[in-house]
Amino acid sequence: MHNIRNITDDLYWVGANDHRLALFENIHPLYHGVSYNAYLLLDEQTVLFDTADWSVGRQFLDNVTFALDGRTLDYLIINHVEPDHAASIQEILLRWPDVKVLTSPKAVILLHQFGFSLGKHAEEVHEGESRCFGKHTIAFVSAPMVHWPEAMVSFDTTDGVLFSADAFGSFRSLDGKLFADEFAFDREWLDDARRYYTNIVGKYGPQVQALLKKAGGLDIKVICPLHGPVWREDIGYILDKYVHWSTYEPEEKGVMIVYASMYGNTEAAAEVLAAKLAERGVTNTRLYDVSSTHVSYLISELFKYSHLVLASVTYNLGIFPPMHNFLMDMKALNLQNRTCAIVENGSWAPRSGALMREILESLKHIDLLDEGMTLTSALREEHLSEMDALADAVAASVLKK
Ligand code: FEO
Repeated sequence: MHNIRNITDDLYWVGANDHRLALFENIHPLYHGVSYNAYLLLDEQTVLFDTADWSVGRQFLDNVTFALDGRTLDYLIINHVEPDHAASIQEILLRWPDVKVLTSPKAVILLHQFGFSLGKHAEEVHEGESRCFGKHTIAFVSAPMVHWPEAMVSFDTTDGVLFSADAFGSFRSLDGKLFADEFAFDREWLDDARRYYTNIVGKYGPQVQALLKKAGGLDIKVICPLHGPVWREDIGYILDKYVHWSTYEPEEKGVMIVYASMYGNTEAAAEVLAAKLAERGVTNTRLYDVSSTHVSYLISELFKYSHLVLASVTYNLGIFPPMHNFLMDMKALNLQNRTCAIVENGSWAPRSGALMREILESLKHIDLLDEGMTLTSALREEHLSEMDALADAVAASVLKK
């Protein structure tokens, strides 16, 4: 049974939702599903923008077939070949054997690597080229590393619709809704959008900035991403988020305290620090147990807040493994521009502080506060003046203009 939504007079969402997938890219947990968006333009010629993951292939194909209403499919534009969008290509070629596939030269190579043979269907398109399909002219804009090297975006110069590939995407299934203005995005959806961006595209901030610069020259009225809601109102809101995330600038002044605690003593110290920060007027704080919070959530929150305190036990003379994993992910995703402080714990040979410092110092533009703490097993009265000094330093840094 088809399930499509109208975007403009002749443009349809023909994607599908997946509630069953537990791990996106087999790594990032999904608790609210994900959508695979594809779009069909019914002009003098018919044009499909991207396909969908094979897990939703039946729904996707039902949607395309229904929306075509007996017409043939003339063109398939492939903006991005990652299999969550390209897996249904072969089925499209089988059902509409005369379809022409417009995509970037690198996409043709990558599709071949994945076992998709475009053969006579393929027509390579390049940055700056455009095609007219009747009323609509589509311009092609390369977007390398947003999120793979072959990626491009397509812009309908007639209606101002940007088919933005992974850019402006989000976790969470659409469930009947389509447009970001159909619900309270800021309250209901922003955390999923941030977690998607930071973990999937976060490493490629400079490339996202390059795309934003190109997009700045376009009169964009609608953004159609490959995941999550379509933007037709308040486009400046999501563009502003992308400016923050791609430049690694925090969205808010606030403190994220991430602790690694085996028996609750480091956790207790983190709680005391949070209370002391509140006493000093800093209440925009979040505490996270690194052992029970998936690292994709930690990364997402870290892109939001300006300050980070890491509190970790020493484990086998090293950093507690989940905390080490978090630090490695920060490095892999190019995290920058944060003010950090360190609390280490170790019953006989505290080492985690020096090791965490070493990793943080290898990141760009990290301001590491001199004030930090070494605990031996647990926070005791004798440590309180040191804890006060740490709270003073973090609070002063947060509260300064
Ligand atoms: Fe949703 Fe990079 O693919």
